[in-house]
Amino acid sequence: MNIQENISLKEYNTFGIDVNAKRFVSINSLYSLQQLLKEEQDIFLISGGSNMLLTTDIEKLVIHINLKGISIDRENHNDIYLTVNAGENWHEFVLWCISQGYGGIENLSLIPGNVGTCPIQNIGAYGVEVKDVITQVEAIEVKTGKLVVFSTEECQFGYRNSIFKNEAKGKYIITSVSFQLTKVEHNLNTSYGAIETELSLKGIDNPTIKDVSDAVIAIRQSKLPDPKEIGNSGSFFKNPVISKEHFEKLQENHPDIPSYPISTSEVKVPAGWLIEQSGFKGKRFGEYGVHEKQALVLVNYGNASGKDIHQLAKNIQKTIKESFDIDLEIEVNII
Ligand code: EPU
Repeated sequence: MNIQENISLKEYNTFGIDVNAKRFVSINSLYSLQQLLKEEQDIFLISGGSNMLLTTDIEKLVIHINLKGISIDRENHNDIYLTVNAGENWHEFVLWCISQGYGGIENLSLIPGNVGTCPIQNIGAYGVEVKDVITQVEAIEVKTGKLVVFSTEECQFGYRNSIFKNEAKGKYIITSVSFQLTKVEHNLNTSYGAIETELSLKGIDNPTIKDVSDAVIAIRQSKLPDPKEIGNSGSFFKNPVISKEHFEKLQENHPDIPSYPISTSEVKVPAGWLIEQSGFKGKRFGEYGVHEKQALVLVNYGNASGKDIHQLAKNIQKTIKESFDIDLEIEVNII
């Protein structure tokens, strides 16, 4: 195993933050991962690096999960069951599925990151969450090196949440994710406003999975920065859930406040709207700032430190608390 010393992690996180890994190893087989865990337990995992803000150098051994490969487990007339290794790039997997005619994840096109991390925060966009198509998650227990299978129920999926963000955090390394996708009768989800608009602009009445994917790609490209050009981690905050009473009170001063219903007593408010109302949208502070087209996204223009961006996030949280009495929760892992 080739353990390298003093490696910059800039290329390994989509925020493009330049911190040092004291020791770094890239792993491309389950066997070598299991062997490594016999010697090393004090580890830090990095995969697509798309949901983390690195604020400090990493003293622990950094393990880059580079497990590749897609296998077809079984199929019938309408369904295909696949297992995908954790190090496969998520968007490339989506595009491959579309080229094969497999439906179910077209709404999740262009989400940064790797397949192995998609269950951790239950990635979601345009009315679809990855939990809808996951059948199981395989992981290695760090302590024992044993392979463990999590059923979808055991994953305890919620909005941008799962067991891997809670009691299983730090205890397992996800090695593969299995999916059930469709081959013939696709359950297209085009009801999300922006998708409908994009499809009708193109004059498409009966969209294919490729049409939906293309629409999502166009929408995302128009709002979200490409991490290859401007460092970012997608939505930095979760959309907060507040009580109906609280919402109605806010409506008195902000009649145009958007919301999504959650239950009879609660609504979700878009964090991007709150941040825009607070004047942060498009604000640049030297090397970092708030994206000009989507206020939920904090960006690194090149050489920002993770601490700078974290401080900006704290300032935003403080302002939103003072202006709206809402606690904004950070969605990205702060390291
Ligand atoms: N809005 C603003 N200003 C902004 C951004 C949004 O006023 O700067 C308003 C919009 O006008 C709209 C509402 O907020 O009324 C919602 O905006 P949008 O539909 O763009 O979605 P979002 O709530 O901002 C969520 C996800 C995104 C996902 C989109 C589409 C979260 C935290 N974010 O964003 O996820 O792509 O819906 O489904 O749930 C990600 O997790 O990295 C991500 C990009």
